[in-house]
Amino acid sequence: MKLPRQFFAPLAIGAPAPMRELPVRLERMIHFVPPHMEKMRAKVPELARQVDVVLGNLEDAIPVEAKGAARAGFIEMARSTDFGPTGLWTRINALNSPWALDDIVDIVGAVGNKLDVIMLPKVDGPWDIHYLDQLLAQLEARHRIAKPIMIHAILETAQGVNNVEAIAAASPRMHGMSLGPADLAASRAMKTTRVGGGHPEYKVIADAAGDAPRAAYQQDLWHYTIGKMVDACAAAGIKAFYGPFGDFSDAAACEAQFRNAFLMGCLGAWSLHPSQIAIAKKVFSPDPAEVAFAKKIVDAMPDGAGAVMIDGKMQDDATWKQAKVLIDLAKLVAAKDPDMGARYGL
Ligand code: GLV
Ligand code: MG
Repeated sequence: MKLPRQFFAPLAIGAPAPMRELPVRLERMIHFVPPHMEKMRAKVPELARQVDVVLGNLEDAIPVEAKGAARAGFIEMARSTDFGPTGLWTRINALNSPWALDDIVDIVGAVGNKLDVIMLPKVDGPWDIHYLDQLLAQLEARHRIAKPIMIHAILETAQGVNNVEAIAAASPRMHGMSLGPADLAASRAMKTTRVGGGHPEYKVIADAAGDAPRAAYQQDLWHYTIGKMVDACAAAGIKAFYGPFGDFSDAAACEAQFRNAFLMGCLGAWSLHPSQIAIAKKVFSPDPAEVAFAKKIVDAMPDGAGAVMIDGKMQDDATWKQAKVLIDLAKLVAAKDPDMGARYGL
């Protein structure tokens, strides 16, 4: 067992001290860029002004023959862009792949001082986090990196879901976790070819009543896993995210999937297509009417204790905390987006 005092000691002499608190940042959408494509890299400076996080993807969807070019392209775009308050992340290849070691060593060596987060795919257990944690500390020491690079795990294997609590608590470097519905479906032998969202055959039907047609209701395939992930992350003080939604032509279904995740406790989702940026912005910025109601609750209970009635609804210490979640998020959104700030009255 790792002893409490060792938990926050650097894992290599000369590495920066692990963070005790996560940086407070708005991360409504993690926007995926394929960095081997020059045309896409050229759009990054403009993109960095529109999104909360730019992620250079090196893993799945990057052709095998372009793995080296993607890594080099990511380094180039990281060096040449001023990201301002926008996060810079990369998704490296899986630890058992032929590319992961070079991804980590080359990127930290070249742009470790600009990189906020490494997204690690196919995490099966805390051992994957421990390996990357140690290697990052060694590289941070060698390259005199000033602030620790954080780790974001993708929850996309059945074994990872079994170990989700241990993964969330594996290191002070843990930033959060995203649900990866495509790999997870494959790992579990779920019978769907969709990337996220519902499935028309996953439903409950009403009892038969004579010859009347029986009502059928589609159920949420991802509810269980998102709930499990959100609990593991919230308990460990890290952040939960929904991952990819693959049908770019179905904006309504994408919005519904993102909103379910938001309501259940997720802070953002991946955007794989430019059209999904606006969807994520809309869903993961709290509704101004909800924020106005939350402000009423906080104003009516300045010390957060007791009970009051507002518009016929009971409020107490717990609803005060719920209201605070919405107001704190609205303040973060307002700091980045003055138009939303005006709508929140902040
Ligand atoms: C994402 O990586 C997924 O597998 O859904
Ligand atoms: Mg995946």
